[in-house]
Amino acid sequence: MLRRNSHQLGLAKWVAVLLTTASFAACSGDGGGGSSNGEGGAGAGAGTPTGSGAGAGTPTGSGAGTPTGSGAGAGTPTGSGAGAGTPTGSGAGAGTPTGTASTASGGNCTGPVDISPVGGNPFDGGRLFVDPEYIAKVQSSIDKTTDAALVAKMKKVQEIPTAFWLDQIAAVDRLAGHLDAALELQNQLCEPVVPVIVVYDLPNRDCFAEASNGELKLDENGTERYRNEFIKPIKEILAARPNQRIITIIEPDSLPNIATNLGGKRCDQTTATSYEENVAHALKELNMPHVYQYIDAAHSGWLGWEDNQKKGAEIFARVINAAGNPAGVRGFATNVANYTQLSYSSESYDQQDNPCFGEFDYVDAMASALAAEGLGDKHFIIDTSRNGAGNIRTDWGFWCNNIGAGMGQRPKANPGGATRLDAFYWVKPPGDSDGVGKAGEPRYDLFCGEDNADTRAPQAGQWFHEYFVECVKNANPAL
Ligand code: BGC
Repeated sequence: MLRRNSHQLGLAKWVAVLLTTASFAACSGDGGGGSSNGEGGAGAGAGTPTGSGAGAGTPTGSGAGTPTGSGAGAGTPTGSGAGAGTPTGSGAGAGTPTGTASTASGGNCTGPVDISPVGGNPFDGGRLFVDPEYIAKVQSSIDKTTDAALVAKMKKVQEIPTAFWLDQIAAVDRLAGHLDAALELQNQLCEPVVPVIVVYDLPNRDCFAEASNGELKLDENGTERYRNEFIKPIKEILAARPNQRIITIIEPDSLPNIATNLGGKRCDQTTATSYEENVAHALKELNMPHVYQYIDAAHSGWLGWEDNQKKGAEIFARVINAAGNPAGVRGFATNVANYTQLSYSSESYDQQDNPCFGEFDYVDAMASALAAEGLGDKHFIIDTSRNGAGNIRTDWGFWCNNIGAGMGQRPKANPGGATRLDAFYWVKPPGDSDGVGKAGEPRYDLFCGEDNADTRAPQAGQWFHEYFVECVKNANPAL
């Protein structure tokens, strides 16, 4: 994936800047925090959120007991299977349940679970589903680790929700099972269990980078295949599950690439037009009452400059309008798979006059830019999966497996700090590689060989044990 600042190149790198949030009170725009409807965040420099709670993934209610059957998983997994609990359990974990077990797979709810979110925020009310596949990946790292303190931290990660990436057509085959595991748990716990799905397979994907070039090409029937073999089956699978609250994140990097990288590398006009049309198609097709969509909106180091914000907001508005302004478009996801912190007091790279220091500022600024385009009602989420540590790169544009990264704030609904912020969430599963680090390998991107990148990395999306260990050790808040 591309996650770089392509704005104003050529400025000095390596310049240490020591700036305070007070000296840069807000991003450009209205001074931060403003919103058309009087809601709004605390503005720039709203501060680092306090509290290090285990997040929305940690259940507080009655648990599902010991996962001996195929029911919803529970407890800390000890096996290496995909399910939580023993390797024979096929269910998914949802943290460390306490309390009485429910034994029947149908659960003991007295009626259908009410999936309506609290105050319209799909991250609020219920719990976020912990991906069994991620639990298994983490388990593979636990199995290699002898340090007991580190293992204890890794086990905590097995209770944290992460997104399920549909990054190729073949991945759609695993979607129904993923959703069914969440539903099974929901039926056991009698409260909403909410999965988060990333829709990521546009034709000519990742046009300004190499690492995540997709399988679909425009000149090989890419649009038809995207619509018929990818979006259509996703739609059918989601439509068949109206009793689940499902969150989607739509096509990371695509529309931001049009905003700033048009004409560069493979981001030609044909590709740009198809990104807009296919994202609009996805938004329209996946518009269902139980599905909440967030469009990827880059991060502060990419669309943080005022002119970029405006370009981005215009494109978002155009695409949403082209889709018919679907009610299911709840808002935007920022910092997806990036390392940008929530707010800074200092950084070691040149910020190139970008008034948005961190994601809080950026969300405030984008909220204003979007309001100017008639989208003043949209909400935001921030990917905090790997933004716990600052000062880990010498250029804001470095996006690939940055050495020194640490897990950030745990997923949490309504964390505050910025305008209409629905949640912190772990969109990029920490430990999944951003891109292969060795020159000569397929899809090798130079950014994955930069000084700040861990060049031991496997292909994008593959499990990178050594990197996972670093992210655990450097977690902030600590695990
Ligand atoms: C990769 C995907 C992967 C996702 C989550 C992206 O960078 O291209 O294949 O699923 O990251 O790790």
